[in-house]
Amino acid sequence: MTATLKLTPTIQMPAVGFGTYLIKPEEAAAAVKTALELGYRHIDTAEVYRNEVGVGEGLRAFLAESGLKRDDVFITTKLWPGNSAWGMTPRTYATTLEAMNTSLANLQLDYVDLYLIHAPFDPDERREQWRAIAELRRQGKARAIGVSNFTGAHIDELVAAGLPKPDANQIELHPWSQKPDLVAYLEANDILPIAYSSLVPLASWRATPGQESAKTAQMRADGAAEASPFRVMAERLGVSEAQVLLRWALQRGYAVLPKSTSAARMAQNLDLFSFALSDADTAAIAEMDRGDGVAWSVGDPTRAR
Ligand code: A2P
Repeated sequence: MTATLKLTPTIQMPAVGFGTYLIKPEEAAAAVKTALELGYRHIDTAEVYRNEVGVGEGLRAFLAESGLKRDDVFITTKLWPGNSAWGMTPRTYATTLEAMNTSLANLQLDYVDLYLIHAPFDPDERREQWRAIAELRRQGKARAIGVSNFTGAHIDELVAAGLPKPDANQIELHPWSQKPDLVAYLEANDILPIAYSSLVPLASWRATPGQESAKTAQMRADGAAEASPFRVMAERLGVSEAQVLLRWALQRGYAVLPKSTSAARMAQNLDLFSFALSDADTAAIAEMDRGDGVAWSVGDPTRAR
């Protein structure tokens, strides 16, 4: 297990990235700067998070103070594809190209390291969005390209249209949503799995009122239980439950994107290389799958047709 993962034959990605979903626009610059100061070298944002401007400001401030260069930090953003089922106009080929220019302007960057389609909503349009994203890579605006919340069937459609294979698929992955078939597909096709919402099983996950999700009352009770298996493992290893969950993903070969607005938690979430889950721990976690992800209140978006 290493601190970087192979994204393409020529591009390595830091395995631990800083997630920014639910970081408010006005707080993003400070949070990103703090994360970079603590050692994160991979930041994940998205058009729909509405904090790209702050992410770009935090990055610039850090680079100016540290003397590091743009290419010392790995930056991901995502195209919001629209969704006609929700009354939102789907992005076309042309408006995908425009959306990328807006994201780059917001971030004050010439290129991102990874550009993703955020979800597989409208079937015809997602192919055109992907065609545009392949063009953006050709133009040098994205070094690597991928998808998020796509299944193997969604990815097969793109490849069947004669388009490139995605380099990565960012999906909700944690012990309660292990997606074994999808992960096997990604591994067989050399597509890097990037895990989001690794910390869903924690009692502290999105505990602030107004942070909607589909996490059930049962899951909340299980996460808070004194005998939670993650708590037992954490106590034995002398780490936190968050570190157990993140380490599990790294041992599976997934990149992780923990988000926190607390510097202490940010630091803890990067400290994943001085302990390991045992085979017994990983075997126990393998039995904990509960099916679909819960991070989206509308249900797991990999279910899109
Ligand atoms: P906070 O930002 O208050 O630290 P996601 O990555 O799915 O968006 O969610 C991350 C959630 O997990 C947030 O609610 C975050 O809260 C919480 N969190 C992040 N790191 C830790 C940690 N080390 N211990 C406990 N909770 C954490």
